[in-house]
Amino acid sequence: MTEDELREEISADPELGTIYREASIALENAADSSAIESVRVDFLGRKGSLSALLQGIKELPQDERRRAGRLGNYLKSWLERSLEEKGNKLRRQELESTLSQQRLDITLPGRSMPYGTRHLLSRIIEEIEDIFIGMGYRVVEGPEVELDYYNFEALNTPEWHPSKSLSDTFYVDMPGGEYDDVLLRTQTSPVQIRVMETTPPPLYVISPGKAYRHDVPDATHSPMFHQVEGLAVDEDITLGDLKGTLEHFAKRMFGEDRSVRFRPHFFPFTEPSAEVDVSCNICGGTGCRVCKGTGWLEILGAGMVDPNVFEYVGYDPEAISGFAFGMGVERIALLKYGVPDIRYFFDNDLRLLGQY
Ligand code: DAH
Repeated sequence: MTEDELREEISADPELGTIYREASIALENAADSSAIESVRVDFLGRKGSLSALLQGIKELPQDERRRAGRLGNYLKSWLERSLEEKGNKLRRQELESTLSQQRLDITLPGRSMPYGTRHLLSRIIEEIEDIFIGMGYRVVEGPEVELDYYNFEALNTPEWHPSKSLSDTFYVDMPGGEYDDVLLRTQTSPVQIRVMETTPPPLYVISPGKAYRHDVPDATHSPMFHQVEGLAVDEDITLGDLKGTLEHFAKRMFGEDRSVRFRPHFFPFTEPSAEVDVSCNICGGTGCRVCKGTGWLEILGAGMVDPNVFEYVGYDPEAISGFAFGMGVERIALLKYGVPDIRYFFDNDLRLLGQY
């Protein structure tokens, strides 16, 4: 029998014919691949109408069984083939429409990852180190968690000194009660005591690091900040040496035509003491917003080491003399690069940090 003859016979059969017509219409109407799948379930699934009919064939009398088996099986394979063909067609169409909607332009440049740079403060510290290493200094470090003795007492800072007050200094509670005078250093000056305690003169050292003060953050204050301490001890060190050293530093840091001036000041650990200004690198000394019209920028504190400090570390003040200085790294960065707010240094915003 040809396929046409088979189909004719199926159409003429009341039960197979109904299923054939229903399946043809359902196939015709199936608009996507999931509709094809439900047609398959409706007719060929475990409870599908064609499956049920084929199940019933074995109950038929012998003579009808052969004919019904042949027609039923043909109908089944016809339906399987038709589902396969239409399903493939619909799946291809679906794929094509997805591909045309989600077009991928492989010629677009990739999105680059933001990359970090060394922090501006780290680079300023390194610049300062390089300038002093060039003058024969050595870089040393000291602890950030300090004893009162190193941060105040041995630096000739008396009990009553205002900087010792709770409102300026972070004191640290230590368990066990073994230490009662532990604090976060308020300056890098205690490193002076630590090196002198362990090293005999002559001594030329700088010490960069963090310091902490109980300040409310604003444009010029941060409870954590950085300083670079300097100390030179030798025979016959004079105020002239201090001035020459700082002048050289200022020129290297801020530009050759800078000059420095010393203003008398007080620090407990130096005598005499001075605050040191550098001529404004923004306006060249004529007066501007950054130097507040004065033509000068304060960059550090300095002085000749107080003989009392030498006594604390067992140096002989009659045999040697020395100078010391301490500078704020953030302040130098603010001035050198015109950064308007100290807090920018600690926000870690790559838009700012990437500029330097
Ligand atoms: N430690 C001082 C401060 O934090 C800065 C300073 C001044 C350091 C004079 C020195 C110095 O070594 O001699 O304000």
